[in-house]
Amino acid sequence: MRLDKQVAIITGGANGIGFAAVERFAQEGARVIMADFDESRGVKAADVLKENGHDVTFVQVDVADQDSVQHMVAKAVEIYGGIDILINNAGITRDAMLAKMDIADFQRVLDVNLNGVFNCTQSVLPHLIEKGKGKIINTSSVSGVYGNVGQTNYAASKAAVIGMTKSWAKELGRKGINVNAVAPGFTLTAMVEKMPDKIIDQMKSIVALQRLAVPKDIANAYLFLASSESDYVHGHVLHVDGGIMM
Ligand code: CAA
Ligand code: NAI
Repeated sequence: MRLDKQVAIITGGANGIGFAAVERFAQEGARVIMADFDESRGVKAADVLKENGHDVTFVQVDVADQDSVQHMVAKAVEIYGGIDILINNAGITRDAMLAKMDIADFQRVLDVNLNGVFNCTQSVLPHLIEKGKGKIINTSSVSGVYGNVGQTNYAASKAAVIGMTKSWAKELGRKGINVNAVAPGFTLTAMVEKMPDKIIDQMKSIVALQRLAVPKDIANAYLFLASSESDYVHGHVLHVDGGIMM
């Protein structure tokens, strides 16, 4: 068991990549808080995992809301007595060309993808400091590394996540806390299914492996960065994109 009895909060854990991570972490012995806005899917998904003998608890959260995040962290501590791992995975898109992008859509993407990561990390931090160790993994994107047509808001938020990751690595290394990011490529979840087919095909063609990722590809990278196998990996952005050329 690579995460035996470790307590992990995985935001956006009810669907897509986050759900694959909840499953993967639970298989490796972690006690998991599946934290998500989507209560109907989250409650059902957590029940199924519990029936299969895994220690998973659903907690509803809006990562963009500080009070909601504090409630999530308090719940995790109440149920499991502490926190070892935070996976800042929750994220949204509101794609539009720059000329047509609504300011409310620009702001909401930053609220969730950027402020959400800040809110969760700031609230979890005292609990990691208390233990003198911990793992923080932030989810960026190929769009944050290279930019992407129609994603002014999203690419800005995901590039900012890399800046925060490197700053926190410098700030928190001395506290025994590892901070890293994963930059996934196009991954088969609801987020990608919303894209026009023509653009999905175009994206596939620029991936060296010639396929899109599946959620488990990204969950395995989270697992590596959450486990002791990565203890000397710090301030790193792990590209899990099949070799995308842009
Ligand atoms: N590369 C090059 N050109 C592109 C393009 C791309 N990726 N996407 C759109 N264009 C071009 C179109 O071909 C079109 O060109 P013409 O004017 O010459 O015909 C022009 O840009 C305008 O495109 P649309 O006609 O599609 O404009 P629209 O206003 O109807 O829609 C859009 C704009 C919402 C951005 C739509 O194009 C779209 O959804 N694009 C996909 C955006 C995308 O890649 N999102 C990633 C989602 S997955 C994710 O975000 C996960 C992750 O981290 C990677
Ligand atoms: P998804 O849309 O399948 O799942 C996202 C989950 O986040 C959902 O369960 C949703 O309810 C939850 N969520 C959304 N807003 C929330 C909020 N305010 N508070 C709490 N939970 C919220 O998306 P996917 O594809 O699984 O994405 C996971 C992460 O990976 C995101 O950060 C995304 O930006 C990133 N990513 C995804 C890629 C892809 O191609 N699918 C590529 C690169 C990065």
